[in-house]
Amino acid sequence: MAKEKKKAFFITIEGPEGAGKSSCAAILTRHLEAHGYPVICTREPGGTPLAEKLREVVKSKPDQNETIHPETELLLMEAARAQHVREKIAPALASGTSVICDRFSDSTCAYQGGGRDMDMGTINFLNDFATGGCVPDFTLLLDLPPETGFERVARRRSADADNDRFEAEKLDFHRRVREAFLALAKGSPERIRVIDASKTLDNVIEQVEKVAHELIF
Ligand code: TMP
Repeated sequence: MAKEKKKAFFITIEGPEGAGKSSCAAILTRHLEAHGYPVICTREPGGTPLAEKLREVVKSKPDQNETIHPETELLLMEAARAQHVREKIAPALASGTSVICDRFSDSTCAYQGGGRDMDMGTINFLNDFATGGCVPDFTLLLDLPPETGFERVARRRSADADNDRFEAEKLDFHRRVREAFLALAKGSPERIRVIDASKTLDNVIEQVEKVAHELIF
C-alpha cells in the first residue's frame, strides 16, 4: 500500500560545533523541496527576534565579573524555546510548512544535563513546558569526537568566538555532552538517527542523503 504523504515535517539537527550541521540542513531542505514540501530553516537558541536576543545573552560572557549560573542558563534556553515554538515552529507546521531546526530540546539534555550535570527530571519537565509537546518527527545526530570538532572549529574560528561561553568549555565538558547525545539516541532509536560526522564531508552528505530518502517521501 502507498504511504500516506505527511503534511509537514519537524526535523531537528543535533551535534557539536564543526560537525557539519549547516550542510546537513541544506541537504534536507533540498530533499524536502524536491518532494514538494515548503520548508523553513531555523535555529536554537534563537529563531525569533526575542529568542535571538536571549541567544546573545546566553552565549556570551557577561560584563564585569558576573557568572551565568547553570540554572539561569537552563531557563534562558527554555525561555528562548518557548517563544520560538509558539511564534515560529508551531505556526509553520500548522500551515503545512516543514521546519528544520539546528538544535532543539535534545541539546538541553546534552549540554545542561550531560555537560553541566543538571537534574534530568527538571530538564525534562522544562523541555515539555517550553515545547508544549512539540516533538521532532526525527532528529539527525551528527556524532563527532570533541577533539575533531575542536580542530575543525579552530580552523574557521571567528573574531567573536573568544567570547563564546560554550566554545570556551574544556574537552571534558564536550565529552560529557557527546556521551549524553549518544545515550539519548540509544533511548530513542526510532526518532534519533546517528550520523558519523568524523568522516569526509562527501561521506557525511551520503549518509544524510540516505536517511533523508528513508524518512522523507
Ligand atoms: P550554536 O548554535 O552555534 O551551536 O550555539 C549554540 C550553543 O548553545 C551551543 O554551544 C550549544 C548550546 N545550547 C545549550 O547549551 N542548550 C540548548 O538547549 C541549546 C539549544 C543550545
